[in-house]
Amino acid sequence: MKEKRLGFATRMGAVAASVGSAVGLGNIWRFPYQAGDNGGGAYILVYLICVILLGIPIMMSEFVIGRSTHKNMKGAVEQLTPGSPFKYFAYIGVIGALLICGYYSVVCGWVIEYLWNSASGNLLGHDPEQYSQIFNSFIGSPDRCVLWTVLFLVLNFLVLTRGIEKGVERVANIMMPLLFVLLIVFCVNSLLLPGSMKGMDFLFNVNFDKLGWKGAVDAMGQAFMSLSLGVTCLITYSSYFKDDSPLMKDAVTISGLDTLVAILSGIVIFPAVFSFGMEPGAGPKLIFEILPTIFQQMPGGTIWATLFFVLLFFASITSTISLSEIPITFMVDEYKFSRVKALLLTAVLMSAVAVVSALSFSSLSDVTIIGKNIFDFLDFVGPNFFMLLGGLATAVYVGWFLKKEVVHNQLTNYGKRSSRFVQPYIIFCLRYLAPIAIVIIFLHYTGII
Ligand code: TRP
Repeated sequence: MKEKRLGFATRMGAVAASVGSAVGLGNIWRFPYQAGDNGGGAYILVYLICVILLGIPIMMSEFVIGRSTHKNMKGAVEQLTPGSPFKYFAYIGVIGALLICGYYSVVCGWVIEYLWNSASGNLLGHDPEQYSQIFNSFIGSPDRCVLWTVLFLVLNFLVLTRGIEKGVERVANIMMPLLFVLLIVFCVNSLLLPGSMKGMDFLFNVNFDKLGWKGAVDAMGQAFMSLSLGVTCLITYSSYFKDDSPLMKDAVTISGLDTLVAILSGIVIFPAVFSFGMEPGAGPKLIFEILPTIFQQMPGGTIWATLFFVLLFFASITSTISLSEIPITFMVDEYKFSRVKALLLTAVLMSAVAVVSALSFSSLSDVTIIGKNIFDFLDFVGPNFFMLLGGLATAVYVGWFLKKEVVHNQLTNYGKRSSRFVQPYIIFCLRYLAPIAIVIIFLHYTGII
């Protein structure tokens, strides 16, 4: 039954699926706009530190929980430490995944709009300043936004009904490397633009004056978002890993590739932003303004644009599939729902969140929570609250409450590999660094410090 649900037959399949989950709009849309909002270099440095000190260890903590039991978070905690209240964090994961996937699919809808426009030859051919207006008028139109978002979700759930290994995984295995190659081509193109070095300077010149607390919180949340942490996604995926796969190597591969894609996206976007005299802190619309301007000056721009949005679409759907799988797996395992019933319920709940967030820039633009519209609120609270809280829980659980032996067995594959340096490092980060860092961040934005 379980094997049927996701069935990663090979180690490559499992790692590829995890990379597919990690690489998505988080890297290509969110990372550049957050870096732009937070002044560039210093944000990126903090981001990288967060990946190494928190991201990889927390990814390992999810892998240990998932693979040692081959269960979801709740079932795993019940098996490993009967009676432990940590099982309730499974609900944070499920609710977090519904909210995140809800607003994330709105951006997937934007990708479809841009894909549609580029394929039909209508995207390019405007003045650079017009791209901002075009984007604003698009997100201000309720029917188009809702239509594309719902269409995206329908495709997402159709793929989920067919099982992952047959459909999207195979496609993703081709699309992800292609996306990578395409990003490299775009990087070279951006670096050749006049004045591109100002963009590189912005990206890699570290100036802490521009960062502040907000930037540090954002960088941490972004690291969790990008690596798919904190909402039990990787617990679910690793519950299908084989017992002999090297967890640490897989975690480093997944995080390394994910980070590379984010940095490459930055190198595509910022040299162009500065070369065309645009605003780096444009917020969520950043790439939708810049990319058409970039494609426009490339020979064969329409083809590049279409290819890029096709690949971005695939990168996005492998991420939303992993997010959708969290509530589905949970309902099947814990409430003994049939897969179809779990899928339908997840689809209904996610669509409700998605439609409301798709309307955040039009019909519901007056509705604000802590000064943000619904979309921006979810984009804040998903990574910076749900993921951090979930990450805190798995770090504390594995660091302090799980038997050392279980961790050791997972890190060494029952004594077959050495974990002389890895284990003390992971345990130190999970016990001390991650909890302290996350608690400080929470105390900060609840206003206590
Ligand atoms: N990591 C994905 C991205 O960067 C988003 C994502 C997919 C995600 N699955 C997740 C985020 C699970 C948190 C938890 O686009």
